[in-house]
Amino acid sequence: MPRAPGRIRADGNENYAEQLVAALRAPNQDYETAESLTHPFHSYPARLHPATARILVELVAENAPRSQPILDPFCGSGTTLVEARALGHASIGSDLNPLAVLVARAKTWVVQTRRRGQIRDAAHEISALVIAAGKAARRAGAEPAPTRKPVGFDPNGRDRRLKSWFAPHVRRELELIAGLLDDLRTRDAELADIMTACLSAILYKVSSRTSDTDGTWVDRNIARGAGARNFAQRAELLAAGLDDMSNTRGAVPEVHLRDARRLGDVVPEGSIAGIVTSPPYAGTYDYAEHQRLRFDFLALRHRDLDEGEIGSRRSFEKDPLAADAAWREALAESIAAMARALAPGRFAAIVIGDSVARNRGMFALDDVRGALTDDLVMEAWASQERPMLGAGERRAFGERGKSEHVILLRRT
Ligand SMILES: C[S@@+](CC[C@H](N)C(=O)[O-])C[C@H]1O[C@@H](n2cnc3c(N)ncnc32)[C@H](O)[C@@H]1O
Repeated sequence: MPRAPGRIRADGNENYAEQLVAALRAPNQDYETAESLTHPFHSYPARLHPATARILVELVAENAPRSQPILDPFCGSGTTLVEARALGHASIGSDLNPLAVLVARAKTWVVQTRRRGQIRDAAHEISALVIAAGKAARRAGAEPAPTRKPVGFDPNGRDRRLKSWFAPHVRRELELIAGLLDDLRTRDAELADIMTACLSAILYKVSSRTSDTDGTWVDRNIARGAGARNFAQRAELLAAGLDDMSNTRGAVPEVHLRDARRLGDVVPEGSIAGIVTSPPYAGTYDYAEHQRLRFDFLALRHRDLDEGEIGSRRSFEKDPLAADAAWREALAESIAAMARALAPGRFAAIVIGDSVARNRGMFALDDVRGALTDDLVMEAWASQERPMLGAGERRAFGERGKSEHVILLRRT
């Protein structure tokens, strides 16, 4: 969520509305939560602000036994799960993006101290090996690039797609790290996934991609050894965050690769204590495109996300009318799946923003209202005005303006 403060309107049950207003204000008042635990470990587009998540998790978890899970069916990088775990609550996350699942699992890997220590050990061992290999190759006057051939990826196509994004010495280091992670995977697949998330966390920083959401090429001067050193530092950051999270007791959150419309596959009906989630904003992001470089480099399979991503920008660019209908249907199906998962009387807090989809203003509060089923009532909502960016947005939103909303639904 952007940090720009704006006028807030709220309605519904007064007590809940006040808490939703506090959740919207939190990013401008609480600067600590976002820097705590494992929150700073990995960037992610449209991440829920951790301070907002904290207030909403506390709200929906109230009076529920700690063993009854909090759910986030669009968990992304796992902000809700980190906050639920910090509160000592069981939680379940799911997302259709394999990168999200990888990162959310790493950020919530609250295992025994000795096991967590293996993150640091593996990172330093790999980093030292890669730096030593770089030096040896330079001494020998040649730097043969390791050729990884991940199963299921055409090596030539993969190489073509990756080539322009990394300086040759950086690519060599990163491929060496990835190769050592392949070796680790044969002995300890769980730890290898955690370490792969560490590699993912530094990948764009040492590439020529501007950022997750900006795919333009930039010239970055990356020193020799920087890839390996950054990788080790990122693993330290993760391990330190996990150490802090271990101060509270509780289970390791479950994270599933799943379409939000198919929650029933992994979540029994009526089993959930509360939901905190932020679905995609219509026509705003392309989660599949934002992570394509990572998918290629880390060899993550993403066909389901390419096909099943909800509200993607590319779908609105291709056929706005069909995309609009598909967006409404997908939102309704996801909300119906959440209703089935919730225990009677429990709450779902949804964070969603107005957006422009192919020049048209999309008003998210109306869209959620239109998607509600009989077994969900809107208990309260709060909306904060957001600055309109440029003439296009002013035209699209008109007098009504643009807002970010927190909506509280109750399962009847
Ligand atoms: C606004 S982001 C969630 C960010 C998350 N709250 C965080 O803090 O990182 C929306 C998420 O919806 C996911 N998504 C898109 N289509 C989906 C679908 N059909 N089923 C499940 N997740 C989906 C995207 O991969 C993305 O992670």
